[in-house]
Amino acid sequence: MTAAPTPSHFDTAARDWDQRPMSQQLAAVPPRLLAHLPLAPTDHVLDFGAGTGLLATQMAPLVAQVTALDMSGAMLQVLADKGFANITPHQGDIFAGLPGRYHAIVSCMALHHVADTAALMQAFADALHPGGRVALVDLYEEDGSFHGDNEAKGVHHFGFAPQALQALAERAGLQGVAFTEILRMQHRNGREYPLFLMTARKH
Ligand SMILES: C[S@@+](CC[C@H](N)C(=O)[O-])C[C@H]1O[C@@H](n2cnc3c(N)ncnc32)[C@H](O)[C@@H]1O
Repeated sequence: MTAAPTPSHFDTAARDWDQRPMSQQLAAVPPRLLAHLPLAPTDHVLDFGAGTGLLATQMAPLVAQVTALDMSGAMLQVLADKGFANITPHQGDIFAGLPGRYHAIVSCMALHHVADTAALMQAFADALHPGGRVALVDLYEEDGSFHGDNEAKGVHHFGFAPQALQALAERAGLQGVAFTEILRMQHRNGREYPLFLMTARKH
């Protein structure tokens, strides 16, 4: 008999994910991100680390197709239950290969869960059509106090320095890299954590 895979932190958290105070603050992100991302009704968008669909559900009415990629089946099940006909959940690790090519790749709070950021930027660039865009949201550099239990939550980076991320994106073939602060998260520990939006496009 094959052992069932160990549930990830996200599998365990999926059912109540949208009710978390953090998720409720993050609800401000999609309209702000969309203001920086030109989309066409024929576009196919990839939401990397889509979770329960914070971004995917806001993109879906605007484009032809959204692929919601996530390793957590439980997170994707919560998204599937929302019943969007043009969102295709795809369970898997981005490094196992992507099921298509995209006009845009978006992501919210997933980059810091991937150890190899250079490889991630390359995977994004490789999966974009020429002229395709990325719009990526994550934490600016922090001291590790945002998640607290970093190991248990699969945190590989305590946020990112824009210059370092820009260098990796450019090395992967992305250009026009720009950063803007998109949100300041109010943490229950009493501190504020700024989030960036990074935009760029493939040559
Ligand atoms: C903090 S959650 C963010 C979910 C959603 N974007 C949001 O903002 O509510 C990060 C998600 O990224 C997924 N993830 C992390 N590493 C991944 C990888 N290598 N490939 C696919 N998904 C990944 C996790 O399973 C998790 O659901």
